[in-house]
Amino acid sequence: MQLIDGTAIAQKINAASREEVARLKTLGFTPGLAVVLVGDDPASRAYVRSKDKMCQELGMHSVKHELPASVSQADLIHIVHQLNADPAIHGILVQSPPPAHINERAVVDAIDPRKDVDGFHPLNVAKLALGDSDAFVPCTPLGCQRLLIETGIETAGANVVILGRSMIVGKPLALLLMQKGKGGDATVTVAHSRTRNLADVCHSADILIAAIGQPYFVKENFVREGAVVIDVGINRIDDPASPKGSRLVGDVAFDEVAPKCRAITPVPRGVGPMTIAMLMQNTITSCQRFAGTR
Ligand code: GUN
Repeated sequence: MQLIDGTAIAQKINAASREEVARLKTLGFTPGLAVVLVGDDPASRAYVRSKDKMCQELGMHSVKHELPASVSQADLIHIVHQLNADPAIHGILVQSPPPAHINERAVVDAIDPRKDVDGFHPLNVAKLALGDSDAFVPCTPLGCQRLLIETGIETAGANVVILGRSMIVGKPLALLLMQKGKGGDATVTVAHSRTRNLADVCHSADILIAAIGQPYFVKENFVREGAVVIDVGINRIDDPASPKGSRLVGDVAFDEVAPKCRAITPVPRGVGPMTIAMLMQNTITSCQRFAGTR
């Protein structure tokens, strides 16, 4: 069984990103990312902090807007418009999910698609569906695909089962893995909570990708001997034995599943660091386009 080290792979990608940032700076351009957080959900705060920190480490410009949960939709969209117009900003990310009174679709629609490094804007979703290579692709799906490529796991002709149908992971990941070319050409099934015989469907996978957001959902009987398992889940569970009183676990019951796998990602240090590495890459790509070097 191979443990896929997402942290190590992300570090390699980030090292290349750091060099590219330095090169762009010599040309007078500094990639800039703006992250907008509404409310004080602890998990979202932690994600936003790590995105900001990675920008600093790579020498990028980083702006963080932390808004109260009570912010109005109009005020939030006003901030997005200001960021659209700001030449120092090449990527805009509004952390999801926002509070219930915010219409997330309307906020995403307000982002300039050229700065939509999350790949959530309808124009980028459409481009991905059309197979247009200049689409911004959502960072977690991109990170999953890159993990498979870097680990030498062939997707062409493979039966891939994606567990979860979200717009952030499941749906774009299905589009990505069925595209023609490197890291694609897979036979993709998207399964979810309403899928009949879910364990059997998952068991048919050569590559099983769990993105359902429930701790330990994928049990030993979901996984075929020799399968590859990618765990996208980041769930915080109570654990009196750990120093914080809680810890992060994935969607996969790792201890019982891992012995059956050809390869598996851990949580943490699996997909998580790859998502951030892909966000940095998307922001650099955006900067290159604004600079006219790409
Ligand atoms: N919430 C969980 N993942 C993501 C992501 O990739 N982007 C944004 N904006 N919010 C998220």
